[in-house]
Amino acid sequence: MASQFRPCFHVTVVLLSFTVGRSDISCRNEAGEPVDWFIIYKLPKYRIGEVGSGVEYMYLDSAVGSWQRSKFMLNTTQGAMANTLNQLYKGKAYLSNSSVYALYNDGPPEMKYIHTYGHTKGVLLFDHFQGFWLSHSIPHFPSFPERGYQYPSSGKHNGQTALCVTYQYAQFLSIAQQLVYVYPRFYNCSVPSVFSADLTQLLKLCEGSKLPLTSNRGVKPLFSVRGDKFVSFVKSELFVDDIYTGWVAQVLDTNLLVQTWQTQGRELPSNCSLPKHTMNIKRTRLPPSVQFQSHYDHSKWCVSQAYEDQVTCLGDLNRVKAQMSRGGGLICSYNPVIYKAFRQAVDWYISC
Ligand SMILES: *[C@@H]1O[C@H](CO)[C@@H](O)[C@H](O)[C@H]1NC(C)=O
Ligand SMILES: *[C@@H]1O[C@H](CO)[C@@H](O)[C@H](O)[C@H]1NC(C)=O
Ligand SMILES: *[C@@H]1O[C@H](CO)[C@@H](O)[C@H](O)[C@H]1NC(C)=O
Ligand SMILES: *[C@@H]1O[C@H](CO)[C@@H](O)[C@H](O)[C@H]1NC(C)=O
Repeated sequence: MASQFRPCFHVTVVLLSFTVGRSDISCRNEAGEPVDWFIIYKLPKYRIGEVGSGVEYMYLDSAVGSWQRSKFMLNTTQGAMANTLNQLYKGKAYLSNSSVYALYNDGPPEMKYIHTYGHTKGVLLFDHFQGFWLSHSIPHFPSFPERGYQYPSSGKHNGQTALCVTYQYAQFLSIAQQLVYVYPRFYNCSVPSVFSADLTQLLKLCEGSKLPLTSNRGVKPLFSVRGDKFVSFVKSELFVDDIYTGWVAQVLDTNLLVQTWQTQGRELPSNCSLPKHTMNIKRTRLPPSVQFQSHYDHSKWCVSQAYEDQVTCLGDLNRVKAQMSRGGGLICSYNPVIYKAFRQAVDWYISC
């Protein structure tokens, strides 16, 4: 496994990225062009001093360099989210035997919540060459393949985040192993038989089986097509603790400022009991001057308090008691563009 991450692997990745063409499965930017990764921050409807439509969003990738207010709305078929997901919907990739897809959400569209699954939401779409992993916080999203791209009205009220990363095929084998810990609720997926030898676990998860685990947590580095490193932290429901305080802050060895959706009376307060601290963000500010309370923000992300540690994670779990006993994960990055965008977004947090 470790041999995959040797320097020669990076050279191969970089060379391959020059051959990536428009038709390859990839995260897509606002103009529909392939990108290594992008992040969307959907603004809440209720902000300080203004009321929005609930479908406006900020967009970030390495080429734009800092948050850009999108000229599109999330509930239309234009913009990075629809451009990316339309490879599944419009391309009819869901009918293909040469690509794998999986839609998962603890709150799927058109179906009820079931709390026995991981608290996690996302999309995988890839072929034998490459594809994307979209991890997001939006309930009841995205729609079933036959319905085409739709944005649910339940996803309008609160703030939401989405991280899309383009990976080569080999990385999806690692991603599938990580998902075993989380036990996502796959509400629609397909693992065609040509993939079943490589992706036995994903096939079983897709069929609704719960697989045995030898530990309750796992960490894996993932490398995007351009060679940018993302680190996946996942826990199963058997690791009963706050993922931020009890694990990730200590492993990253840095104090974290954490934005999650906390419902009154169930929140975990800022916590300075362990060597590395976890402090709740209460107010966020995105450029030029959009401010909102954490109470209206369903997104889940954290940043190192110290600028020199430069780490940002986006993920699945809120800092609330009930989610200590749910499967879920975080995807962390040391990318300076991502760090700057999120660290500057911290407007007010509670120290302890
Ligand atoms: C998108 O949402 C906005 C705000 O709720 C609404 O006014 C608009 O009609 C919606 N557009 C589509 C295409 O659904
Ligand atoms: C995919 O495989 C199934 C089962 O083997 C077959 O019925 C179907 O026609 C195939 N679809 C395509 C598009 O090749
Ligand atoms: C989900 O996926 C399968 C196969 O990919 C498809 O046949 C099925 O109709 C899909 N839709 C729903 C609503 O379950
Ligand atoms: C802080 O977090 C740790 C790990 O989750 C937990 O064991 C401890 O009880 C918490 N401390 C307080 C004061 O809540």
